[in-house]
This record gives sequence, structure tokens and C-alpha cells, in this order.
Amino acid sequence: MTDLLISGCSELLTLRGRVPRRGRALNELEIIRDGAILVRGDRIAAIGPRRRIEKLPQARRAEKLDLRGRVVLPGFVDSHTHLLFPVSRAGEYEQRIAGKSYEQIARNGGGIRSTVKALRKASPPALKATASAYLERFAAHGTTTLEAKSGYGLDWPSEVKTLRVLHDLHQDQPLDIVRTFLGAHVVPPEFRRRPGAYVDLLVHRWIPSVATAGLAEFCDVYCDRGAFTLPQARRILSAARACGLVPRIHAAQFARTGAARLAIELHAASADHLDQIDAADVGALALSNVVCTLLPGCSFHLGIAQRAPARKLIGAGAVVALATDFNPGTSPTMSMPMIFSLACSQLRMSPAEAISAATINAAFSLRLHDRAGSLEVGKYADLAAFDVADYREIPYYFGVNLCSMTMKRGVVIHPKNC
Ligand code: NIG
Ligand code: FE
Repeated sequence: MTDLLISGCSELLTLRGRVPRRGRALNELEIIRDGAILVRGDRIAAIGPRRRIEKLPQARRAEKLDLRGRVVLPGFVDSHTHLLFPVSRAGEYEQRIAGKSYEQIARNGGGIRSTVKALRKASPPALKATASAYLERFAAHGTTTLEAKSGYGLDWPSEVKTLRVLHDLHQDQPLDIVRTFLGAHVVPPEFRRRPGAYVDLLVHRWIPSVATAGLAEFCDVYCDRGAFTLPQARRILSAARACGLVPRIHAAQFARTGAARLAIELHAASADHLDQIDAADVGALALSNVVCTLLPGCSFHLGIAQRAPARKLIGAGAVVALATDFNPGTSPTMSMPMIFSLACSQLRMSPAEAISAATINAAFSLRLHDRAGSLEVGKYADLAAFDVADYREIPYYFGVNLCSMTMKRGVVIHPKNC
């Protein structure tokens, strides 16, 4: 096995140490100046100052990759995406710009239900090809691991189709994909007048089948106005837990439903969005291990003023993560650096807090922190190099992609043909 010596990292952000990061620890990036990494196979064999790493006997024989002064950090872990959908909803974007709200469009048959209609008709190869192209763009922006949800099928064959395509993508392209079953995205059209029957179906049939067939590791519910109620979410996620699927929850995006508290009650891996939580919710979340995953791409894309209380969550000691929420309705971005810019300018997170949130804390929320989310001996050689002089310039230069190299498990995947 040939080793690879990566040198020329002007700032090497290792993120080693505490998992998860809370409070002030979110600012601890554990930076090595003029750093180097020795990669063996898919793992990090050594990491430290260049002078020390270069002297290792294996480093002398290794292939060399000189990053010529770039800033290097762990590949991003995007812990909330709706990766698999067949077409954009650019038409709805235009309607919103003209004054219709996201919820109005959904009530008129657009929104999630319009993607459901399209996905049910799409063939697995077509879905796979579309998602592969997206994944290349995620990788080009520094992401090396993604969570991906079902939830645009909402009938059994289409949910299974989605989860199988996600499985194939995990096998056939370089990024790691972690699957979440989101059968409870919205009530499907067939059950519009009897949502309780749909919840019964999820609880008694689909969730046990997903768990038994190993089609997903997590189960999510969209608990909000226009989607599922708190008692429905409790039933669905309790059934998921009992079957061994770990709960995640879309909580308090548009209305404060009590979903954040439910996440704590059920020991969910994450509670996502959290735009509408109050001070008592912040306090309760801070005392738990639930990862508060903030998704600032949504308010930006929807052009609305609501913001998750990031400063209050961090101040209280909650575990905060950031994700793209890549989806065709509310956040069609594949760029984690863009999410950093939004987190810094809109949520007042520091650049260091944003980076911790999208690496080690996101990995913790996916239960992958023993392999991903920081650059440490024994972990995957998953990293991103940026053409900047100072890591704070990653969010500072917004709307441009300064990621010049992405490595996944020791292999350069961006730029292609490298
Ligand atoms: O996270 N909230 C539910 N799901 C997505 C929106 C999905 C869509 O509009 O297609 C979200 O924002
Ligand atoms: Fe979402």
C-alpha cells in the first residue's frame, strides 16, 4: 500500500478533541500551522507539523501532494438533505418572488406534493443520474459525507425505490450517504381525508419493514403546520425507536409545535430547523444530547426574516450543527460554504463555530464521529482544501467556490481527473 504525504497546509484545521462541541468549545478548531498529513489507504496514519511528519520513515517513501499554502479542514458532513428528487421547482420560486408564500403554494397542490407526483413517475436510473450530478457538486464544495432522506415517494414502492437508489449511490460513487426514512414528510394525497390511517400504516407496516430490510438507519418526521401533529410525530418516532431506527425531527420551522421537546423526550439524534423555538426550549435542548441542526439556507431562499436563535443555543450550551437542507422547495444549495456565510452573517455564528457545526457536530448527529468530522489518526482521510490565506475567508467570500481540492477516503475526488 503506497502512503501519501500531504504537505503545504498553511492552516490545518484538525477539529481534534471534544465530541460533541458545545459553547466556547465550538471555537476550538485545533489549528496546526504549516501542517502535514500522512495517509495510508483510506485513513490518516499521522498528522502534525510538517517538520515532524516529514521525518517519519513512511513519509520519506510516500507519494507527495503539496497543497502550496492552502487551508485544509475536515470534509464537510451535511447532516440534513433531501438529495433525491427528479426536477427543480423553479416555477414555485418565481411565484414566491411575486408574493405567494411557501405554505400557500403547498395548499394549492404545489410544494412537497408536486415533487411526490414527479418522483413516483421517475425511473431509478434517471433519479440516480440526477443525484450523481448533484453529489459531484457537493464534493466540489468540500462535502464528503451526506445524510439523505426519502419522503418524496409516500407510497411503499416509491419510498423503497428512493432508499434503494440512495443505497446504490452510496456503493457507486465516493461520498458516504447515510439514509433516513421520511415517510412522514406530508400526508400523501391518497390519505388526505384520513391522516390517522396513514400514521397507522407507517407505524404498523412501513417502519418495521424499513428497519427489518435495513433500508435506513434513521427515521424523521416533518412535525409542523400543514404536515404532522405532535401526537402523530410521537407515535411515529416511538415506533421507529422500538424498531431500532434512530429518530430525527423537522421541528419548529414555521410553527412551534412542541417537536423540539419531543426530540428530547425520545432521545432523537437531531432536531432540525428550530426557527420558532422559545427560551424554555433553548434551555431544555442545551441540557440534552439532541443536536440542534440549523438550516439557514431556508429563510434565505424563501426570502423570509425568521432566524433560529443560534447565539442563544450556543450560549446555553446546546450542541449545534449546520446543514444545507438541500431540497427543491426551500433550500436548493449544494454549497456548505454558502451555508457558512449565512450562518455567520444571519445567525451571528463565528466562522469557527460554523466549521465545528458542519464537521464534528454534524458527524456526531449521524453517529459517525469515530470515522469522520475531524482529522485525527485512525479516521478517514476526508478533507477539503480551500484557496484562502485564513479559514475565516471561507464564509467571508460568499457566493464563490474556493474549494480547490476534496479528498474522500484518501482519494482526490475534486477536481476530477486529478
Ligand atoms: O426541510 N420541511 C420539510 N421538508 C423540506 C422542504 C421540502 C420541500 O419543499 O420539498 C425542508 O424545508
Ligand atoms: Fe428538510
